[in-house]
Order: sequence, then structure tokens, then C-alpha cells
Amino acid sequence: MKLFSKLFWSFLTVFLLFAIIFYIFTYKNVNSNYLDASRHYLEEYGNIIQAGIISFVHSGDYEGLDRYIHGLNTQIRITYIDLDGKVRADSDKDKKTLENHADRPEIISAWENGTGFAWRFSTSVNHKMLYFAERIMVEDVTAGFLRLSFYDYQIEELQKSLSQDMTKYLIIGVMISLILTYFISRSFIKPIQMLASATKKLSAGDFSVRLNPSSKDELYDLSLSFNIMTDKIDKLVQEISAQKESLRNIIDNINELLWVIDTHTEKITMANKAFSRFLGIEDPTNKHFWEIFRNMEINQLIKDAISDRKAVIKEVNIREHICHMSIYFHQENGSMIILLHDISPLRQLEKVKRDFVINASHELRTPLASIKGYTELLKRNVSPENENILEAIERNNQRLTFIVNDILSLASLEDISSLDREKANVSTLLDNAANIFKTRLEAKNLKLKKNYLPNVYALIDIFRFEQIVNNLIDNALKYTSQGSITLSLVIENKNLVFECKDTGIGIPENSLSRIFERFFVINKSHSRKSGGTGLGLSIVKHVVQLYGGEISVKSVLNSGSSFKISIPLEP
Ligand SMILES: Nc1ncnc2c1ncn2[C@@H]1O[C@H](COP(=O)(O)OP(=O)(O)OP(=O)(O)O)[C@@H](O)[C@H]1O
Ligand SMILES: [Mg+2]
Repeated sequence: MKLFSKLFWSFLTVFLLFAIIFYIFTYKNVNSNYLDASRHYLEEYGNIIQAGIISFVHSGDYEGLDRYIHGLNTQIRITYIDLDGKVRADSDKDKKTLENHADRPEIISAWENGTGFAWRFSTSVNHKMLYFAERIMVEDVTAGFLRLSFYDYQIEELQKSLSQDMTKYLIIGVMISLILTYFISRSFIKPIQMLASATKKLSAGDFSVRLNPSSKDELYDLSLSFNIMTDKIDKLVQEISAQKESLRNIIDNINELLWVIDTHTEKITMANKAFSRFLGIEDPTNKHFWEIFRNMEINQLIKDAISDRKAVIKEVNIREHICHMSIYFHQENGSMIILLHDISPLRQLEKVKRDFVINASHELRTPLASIKGYTELLKRNVSPENENILEAIERNNQRLTFIVNDILSLASLEDISSLDREKANVSTLLDNAANIFKTRLEAKNLKLKKNYLPNVYALIDIFRFEQIVNNLIDNALKYTSQGSITLSLVIENKNLVFECKDTGIGIPENSLSRIFERFFVINKSHSRKSGGTGLGLSIVKHVVQLYGGEISVKSVLNSGSSFKISIPLEP
């Protein structure tokens, strides 16, 4: 039911109830007042004629009494009833035809209380009559009852006109109530309707809507609050729109391809201009990402990321471009943000740099070999005072050759993406490596402990594995003056784990994270003396990464270091 109907019917019910109660009350009140006045009139009249009646009763002259009351000639019917209820005289009827009146309510009441009153239907006259009866006392003894009755047609008339008038007024009242109720309800409902329609407009996005309350009541306050609220929402929406706009501008002006995917529907919900430009699509939103990006590698990456719900950072190839792809998740709304950054120019630059280094290194090899040859020639007939100079030339030439070889080694590692694995006896490989370093170990009086079983087989790239082992043993030897070097080899959780542990000078904690950087050495003069270039561990790390493995280092200063590599047995 609508609020208007509710109000209307509630008001109307209250009005009607009030009118009906008023009607009944008035009717009853007027009626009883009139009856009271009539009864009083009968009582007075009875008192007047009582003396005349008593004299007839006293003498027992009922015929005389009958004549007397006939002679009174009044509109009031006068009846005298003796103690037995027998009618002894009656002004209107023949007393002989009248039945016993002892059972009449007014007579019974007069017998009990002295007077009796009744407003009832009379069977003898066929009308509703008003009766008044009182005891007639002769020498203080009840002799009979004088009853006065009165057919008051006025009462009925009065009642009739009263009820007619009141019904008329009631109908007029109801009509007025109907009209009043309608207007009152409307006046109540109007501001609420205005508020409802304003709220509807607001929810539809029209923030310009305002209310103009006319009366200063609670609805006025509500309307004011509504206006304040709308003002605030309006401002907020404008601010948010401005922020959204500027964010959109920023996103559109970045060169990276940025797009957002709803992970549930797999549809693109947002994409920047760079994205649309790159793909030549006006509006890619609301389309499935696999419809837009016809690139197997990228689509698979996105699908995997959706199912794993894990952020991904990867290099991918798109239309001869090398791109850095980052996938992030917006945990709250289940969307996925993808950023593609074209790193082809960067890669090109890197290639130019690498080519330059390789070319320069290659070019250096020939003059270095010549210098070596000439110094050896000179060595044959060098004067003792120039022997030291020649040795220095030879040492530096050697060092330069190592650097050039390491640089070329690193460059060749950067060019390959996978290793050529073959089944090999890794224990034998370690034995051979140990043999190569035998002379140097003996020269420094260091022990080499072999902590591995013979015949440990694995699928490995022999040359690259030797590169790792040789570099680690070379370091252990270079940076250990006394004690031992322990080589361990074990197969653990489908990984080949190799460890090279020494009792050397150790590595300071703050340098631990840097030792794998190219050309990083802790003690420059020591490295120079030992012929170190700072490239060995970079090569080791690179090879381990090519294997898809891991390298870790533990070291205690002045106690020793331990390098552990773990490479998966299966590629
Ligand atoms: N076993 C070790 N004990 C102590 N320090 C070490 C050890 N291994 C490496 N280092 C430190 O890490 C640095 C980097 O090692 P890296 O093998 O890369 O270079 P290098 O041995 O100096 O030269 P290169 O190996 O190129 O001939 C070394 O200069 C050395 O300071
Ligand atoms: Mg080294």
C-alpha cells in the first residue's frame, strides 16, 4: 500500500470513529434529557391530582374515581390500579376490558421503591409509552397505584428528526473529512514524494537536483540535509572524475602498453592509448584478451598467471620486439594489471656494447701473443739488470691475457641460452681438476680433501661444469695460505650439489653480496699479485644460471669460505 493511501485511510478511520462516537453520544444524551423532562412532568402532574384521587380511594368509590379522571380531560392517560393489580379506573379505556397490571414494570418498581418509571411498548394502545407510577397512601397504608402514561408522539418525532439530522450531518461530516483527509494526506505526502523523486534522480546520476522545502518542520531539516549531502556527493564525484581524468591522461601518455583484465570473464576492462596504437584497435575493452593478442606465448603466460594467481615478470617476443612483461594482481577486485615495456632498443644497445667488447678483446689477443713471443725471445739474452723489467712485462701481459680470455668467456656465455648436457662421471671430472691444481697445492703446502664417492654420474655440460669447478678451486687456492681445501659432491633431491670449502682468509660480510659482480675484487693489490681480474665468480654464476641452478656462499673472516652450487639433474 502506498504511503498516501495509508495516511488517507488512517485519517479517515480516525475521523469516522470520532463522528460515530459523537453521533451516538449526542443521540443518547438528547434522548435521555428529553425522557427526564417528560418523567418530571408526569411526576408533577401526579402530585397535583393525587389529593383528588385519594378521597375517592378512601371512600372506595371507584366509579366516582373513573368519572373524575375522565373529567380531567387531559392528554395524559390516568389509571388507578389496586394492590392486586386490578385496574379500578382508566381515563382512556374501559377498565373492565383491561387485564391485571400487577406485572407491569413501573407498578413493580413503585411497589418496591415508591415510584416507578418505564418507557416501553404498550400492548393495550399499541404504542411506545412513557409510564410513571406511584403509591397511593391512605392513612399511611398503601391502597393502590396511580399510573400516569403518556403517548408522546413528540419523542418519536424528536428521535426521528434527531437521527435524520444527525445522519445528514454525519454524511456531510464524512464528505468534508474525505476532502480534508485527501488534502491533508497530500500535504504530508508531497514533500516525501519530492524527496523520493529527488533521490531517484540522484541515484540515476543527476547530482544537480536540490529540494526547496516550504514549511519549517522535520521534513525541512531532512530536505536541508539532503541538499548538503547532494552538494558533497556532487563535489566528491567531480573530484573523483577529475582524478580519474588525470589518471587516465597519465596512463594514456606512458609509452608502455598497459591493460587490465577481469580474471573472471577474461575480458579487457581497460587499456591505454599505447596499447590501442600498438595493436591498431580503436577500443579493445570488453573483448577477450586472447581475441586481441594473437600471441601464443603471451596468452599462455596470462592464462597460467590467472590460474596460479601469482605475479609474473618475463621477457617476451612480440612482432620482432623484445618486451619486458609484468603481470600484477589487484587482490580486491580480482583484476589483473599487465604492463609491456619494449626493451628492444636497450637490448640493441647492449648488443652493440658486447660486440664492441668482444671485437676489442679479439683484436687484443694478437698483439698480446706477439708481446709474449717477443718477451720470450728477449729472455734469452737479457742483461741481469733488465731481468726484472722483462718479468714485469711478462706478468702484466699474462694478466691482460687472462682478462681478455675471461671477457670472451663471459661474452660467449651471454650468447647461449642452454647447455649441451651429456652423461658424465662427475667424480672423475673432480679428480682431474684436482690434478691440474696439484703443483700449486704442493707449492702452498695445502691439502685437498675429496669428500665424495667415485662414479657419481649426471647429465651435465662437461666444459661448463669444469669452468665452475676450476674457478672455485682456483679461488680457494688463491685465498688460502694454510690448511686445506675440501671438495664435496652429492646428489640431493634431484640436484647435483657441489661444494668447495677452504680454510682461507674468508670474505667480509658486507662484500658477500657483491662478489658475483663483474670485476669486483675485495683486495685490489692482493688480486693484482695473484693475477685475479674479478671475473671468475661472474662466469661461475652465469653458468649456474644457465643450468637453472643456484649458488650460495658462506664465509667467516680469517677462517674460511664455502661455495655451494646446486644444479637440477634434469634440464
Ligand atoms: N675462496 C675465497 N676466499 C676468499 N675470498 C674470495 C674467495 N673467492 C672469491 N673471493 C673474493 O671474491 C673476489 C671475486 O672473485 P673472482 O673469482 O670473481 O675474482 P678473482 O678471483 O679476483 O679473479 P679471477 O677469478 O677473475 O681470476 C675475489 O677478488 C676475492 O676477493
Ligand atoms: Mg677467481
